[in-house]
Amino acid sequence: MDATQYARANQDRFLAELVDFLSIPSISTQPEHKPDMERAAAWLREKLLAAGCTKAEVMTTAGHPVVYAEWLAAGPHAPTILVYGHYDVQPPDPLDEWTTPPFQPTIVGDDLFARGASDDKGQAYIHVKAAEAFKETAGAPPVNAKCLFEGEEEIGSPSLAPFIHEHADLLAADVALISDTHILGKDTPSIVYALRGLTYVEVEVTGPDHDLHSGIYGGAVRNPINTLCAMIAKLQDEEGHIAIPGFYARVRALDADERAELAKVPFEREAWLREAGVKADWGEAAYTIAERTTARPTLDVNGIWGGYVEPGAKTVLPSKAFAKISMRLVPDQDPARITQLFRDYLIQIAPPEVAVEVRKIHSGDSAIVRRDSPAMQAAFRAYAEVFGKEPVFERGGGSIPVVATFQKELGIETILMGFGLPDDRLHSPNEKFHLPNFYRGIETVIRFIELLSHIEA
Ligand code: BES
Ligand code: MN
Ligand code: MN
Repeated sequence: MDATQYARANQDRFLAELVDFLSIPSISTQPEHKPDMERAAAWLREKLLAAGCTKAEVMTTAGHPVVYAEWLAAGPHAPTILVYGHYDVQPPDPLDEWTTPPFQPTIVGDDLFARGASDDKGQAYIHVKAAEAFKETAGAPPVNAKCLFEGEEEIGSPSLAPFIHEHADLLAADVALISDTHILGKDTPSIVYALRGLTYVEVEVTGPDHDLHSGIYGGAVRNPINTLCAMIAKLQDEEGHIAIPGFYARVRALDADERAELAKVPFEREAWLREAGVKADWGEAAYTIAERTTARPTLDVNGIWGGYVEPGAKTVLPSKAFAKISMRLVPDQDPARITQLFRDYLIQIAPPEVAVEVRKIHSGDSAIVRRDSPAMQAAFRAYAEVFGKEPVFERGGGSIPVVATFQKELGIETILMGFGLPDDRLHSPNEKFHLPNFYRGIETVIRFIELLSHIEA
């Protein structure tokens, strides 16, 4: 029996284990789930050891632990891969919009519903099961493997860059492998070669130093919520073009070749509108929807609050207004520079009666990976063989900042070998993972590793 046959024969058990993993509410942003984070890390470590890794450790960081494992069985002439994934998940709220409880994984037809099913526990677990398949059939994988699973991806990975910097020797590899993106459709494989970066800020606008009666003071005191809204309205035009001076200075333009390539990626507008639940699309008219959502920067208010929001009415002229704002960035925008430009502009447009504070919450670099490497060719062939169809190359709109960190700190490229689907509802209620993709994912990773093993390190 070969590794692929082994994986096929053990699908039911693999699924049962994934259900177990998904039952742990490893929500990184909520302090009350700290014990669950530790439980998830320990669970993963056990499974990595059981899959044959010669070493698997839960390593502490300033935040949630990193799980590191290795299996260097293939010798110095074989390539070394560094698998990355994240075992933390987003909060499940709003809870009442879930059809089944987020941490009671439920199979409906071909889909497994749970928070983290696709992002990223289900996809991360693919690699553990691929390793097991090699262990049980060939004794060991034909490449050297290192694994790095973090528990802070969904909160901006505050501990990860320092961890990688500090452990650069430990993590040295020829190529990184990440399954944390999606393919175009269940039978339409694709390989993401670019991701957006981001900067996420919180804005605080202060007017009067305490809440005021809006009848006594209204008309002569500037309202900070009205003011914040007016300032936000000045951040972009009707098309979404961002008005911050210098914002586009380092945006790398899409050249004609790449636009032509991207235009070949299958895209159905009606299906996209349905998936997003909107009547019409919006944005920069000079760019296609696919370009706007992956290769162009954005600015979005994620939340806005202040004043009275409880039932009924309270006449109040509030002291403060807040907003959380994220900007998706593209090569070669620098998150630190953009954060500064945002702050400068907001302070410049703020009227004199209010004070404005901009706090950075987190940020991450965008990335573009090489498409002409032997490892990318191996990935291409692996998808083609397992899905029976050649993958297309596309850009992704989300952010996985570690890809740029691997380039900078370890000098390695990443293969983004995703197995999610566009309608997996990441970060939303009723997140799911399409189970045939879980199984095909394991087979694709097995095939990738076999093909990669024929390449000199
Ligand atoms: N897996 C996603 C990123 C993703 C999803 C990339 C789909 C491409 C396609 C990841 O877990 C994520 O959600 N990242 C965050 C960034 C982070 C810094 C909070 C994001 O993109 O919002
Ligand atoms: Mn993810
Ligand atoms: Mn995510």
